[in-house]
Amino acid sequence: MRAAAIVPAAGRGERLGPGEPKALRELAGQPLLAHAVRALSEARSVDVIVVAAPEGEEARVATLLHTVVGDTELHVVTGGKTRQRSVALALRVIPDDVDVVLVHDAARPLVPEEVIDSVTSAVRAGADAVVPAVPVTDTVKQVDTAGRVEATVDRSQLRTAQTPQGFARIVLESAHRDAAEQGLEDATDDAGLVEHFGRPVIVIPGSEDGFKVTRPLDLVLAEAVLARRRSAGVN
Ligand code: CTP
Ligand code: MG
Repeated sequence: MRAAAIVPAAGRGERLGPGEPKALRELAGQPLLAHAVRALSEARSVDVIVVAAPEGEEARVATLLHTVVGDTELHVVTGGKTRQRSVALALRVIPDDVDVVLVHDAARPLVPEEVIDSVTSAVRAGADAVVPAVPVTDTVKQVDTAGRVEATVDRSQLRTAQTPQGFARIVLESAHRDAAEQGLEDATDDAGLVEHFGRPVIVIPGSEDGFKVTRPLDLVLAEAVLARRRSAGVN
């Protein structure tokens, strides 16, 4: 059986500021989406990639990625109004012989191959749902609406969730089906849906490089990481 990676890429990128849809914004001369898809296609464990593209950009995305994916099977679908909907639409075209599905944000262009393959391995080893995550480094305050501190949260138990998140196909499909039936549509990650329906989710180590490009400064950081990799002869 094969493994597929869904890449939700249909967001606008409002927090990044005005411009193209975020997945098509450039990092070192190539769209964020191309970086993310290249990483997935180079990972040994990924056989099929399904991209949920911004509406109206499907053909451009297919052309752009054609040269990036090598011999990895590529499908492009039209994304939806929310990330959750984009993933659900992509799930519909996953081939029958796929039993493991990863979901990876187009906005995480620098994810290392090792993280991708570790997530797939953990699902193959029997986990229903797997999330790569890193420890929270800032001190976190819980505040009330007036801005008064109610608590300083114990950081040692907190993790920042990254992608790709990996799932047994049937687990991800049933979580999305149940969510749609209950009218849930705004989940910001897929493991959150699985957790909501009471299935176990495990965490494995993520990577510093797995950060999401959300605000303008994140693009500056991503450029710096790429420059460092290039001068070290990686990529
Ligand atoms: N995404 C998607 N469909 C949507 C919304 C988001 O496929 N309707 C994707 C984005 O393209 C991104 C990933 O989900 O790769 C993570 O979302 P986020 O970082 O929030 O991206 P945007 O929604 O584009 O950014 P913003 O929230 O700042 O508008
Ligand atoms: Mg968003």
